[in-house]
Amino acid sequence: MADLIRGLRELESEGVTVRCVQLDVTNEEQMRAFLAEHMRQGHPPIKGIMHAASVWQDERGQALVKPLINLDSDALSAVFRPKIIGSWLLHTLFQESRLDFFVAFSSGASLFGSAAQGNYAAAGAFMDSLAHYQRAQGQPAISIDWGAVSEIGFGATADGLRVHEYWEDHGIQRITPRDVLAALDLLIPQQVAQIGVLKLDWQKLRDFYPQIVSLPLVSYLLEGTTTSESEAQNSQSFFSESATTITHAVGSERLPLMEQYLSQQVAGVLRVPVERIDLDQPLTTLGLDSLMAIELKNRIEQELQVRIPIVTFLQGPSIRQLATQLLEQLPEATPDPAPEPDLSQMGAEQLLTQLDQLSDQDVDALLQQMLTEQQQGQTSDTKSMISAEEAQQLLSQLDQLPEEDIDSLLKQIVQGEE
Ligand SMILES: NC(=O)c1ccc[n+]([C@@H]2O[C@H](COP(=O)([O-])OP(=O)(O)OC[C@H]3O[C@@H](n4cnc5c(N)ncnc54)[C@H](OP(=O)(O)O)[C@@H]3O)[C@@H](O)[C@H]2O)c1
Repeated sequence: MADLIRGLRELESEGVTVRCVQLDVTNEEQMRAFLAEHMRQGHPPIKGIMHAASVWQDERGQALVKPLINLDSDALSAVFRPKIIGSWLLHTLFQESRLDFFVAFSSGASLFGSAAQGNYAAAGAFMDSLAHYQRAQGQPAISIDWGAVSEIGFGATADGLRVHEYWEDHGIQRITPRDVLAALDLLIPQQVAQIGVLKLDWQKLRDFYPQIVSLPLVSYLLEGTTTSESEAQNSQSFFSESATTITHAVGSERLPLMEQYLSQQVAGVLRVPVERIDLDQPLTTLGLDSLMAIELKNRIEQELQVRIPIVTFLQGPSIRQLATQLLEQLPEATPDPAPEPDLSQMGAEQLLTQLDQLSDQDVDALLQQMLTEQQQGQTSDTKSMISAEEAQQLLSQLDQLPEEDIDSLLKQIVQGEE
């Protein structure tokens, strides 16, 4: 409050007349009464509007800005009211006035979406659409989708600081109040309905929110920018080795590998050493909040190519439970096929033990080979179970012999060789 008073005094010292009135921007009766009184007292007409009203916590300090899955009707309407009802009411009250500007303070959440800010993003999207509608009617409206603003308002609170620091780690950097004022100077005269003012680290953003690249706006912005070699390497390193190991593992190896992989990912998101991660504790009690849940979801989905509804995390499974659920989505790798047996190198005994596993063609080929060998130069071999003539005859009839006969013949020959 002291800062506010100091600011107003500064304006007055420059010759500005300041009237500070506290009103509920969603209360039509109050707003109309104020405007009537303003005119009656002979003040100059209002020529410009800045809509910056917003609510993000309730009277007890509990957050009202939440992921869609956690929203109740109270949180929805509390966040909607100042932005949606408030901006619409201002629009209806001033649509016949000749304004110089009508600025709505929207946010980057409505440009890119923000899973942890479902109601807030939707409320901002309403103001963006309203500005387009107003422009179409010839009014000087602009909706500005601000990125995170440091030092003042939400950005100066403990919660705001935590959220903004988190975003900064993930590619959404803060802009200063000075940047905001400079942007307003620049943007108000522009003939545009909506504009984003954000400071982004695209590489970080792409790493943590890979889906963002598929948004038409982002692909348009990134059009023509080439990914440098080091950027490509960074994004490659995102695919961790452990993820590759799990997708190639078979049988009972899979579960412990998946548990180990998830522990590493959870520890990374919670920024704690992996040894502190208890496999049986629900993720929510480990300290995973909704922002972290989204980061975790994005990482795992990207690396393992699985789908995890955000509700899965919010239900608070343990790592063990999550590992089992995820393995159901990962097809088990087929073990490498056993090498083809080299029949020519097999000893007689080994051949006999594997006879059942050989294909008919293999048995035929083997028999052909043995009979031919027997026929060539083994006529004097007294140990042989069949004679060279018999071998010659058998060879000519091989095609007509039933399978059992071929098998038993093969056995005879093999035993004879031993
Ligand atoms: N801070 C950021 O990083 C950031 C980023 C993007 C966009 N924005 C947008 O920029 C605007 C200002 O942000 P901020 O951080 O300064 O917000 P803030 O600190 O939460 O201030 C919001 C203001 O809105 C007023 N308000 C709430 N409901 C109202 C109502 N029904 N009628 C009249 N006034 C009402 C509040 O008044 P009381 O204090 O009397 O309740 C408060 O002064 C917001 O619209 C916000 O969404 C901010």
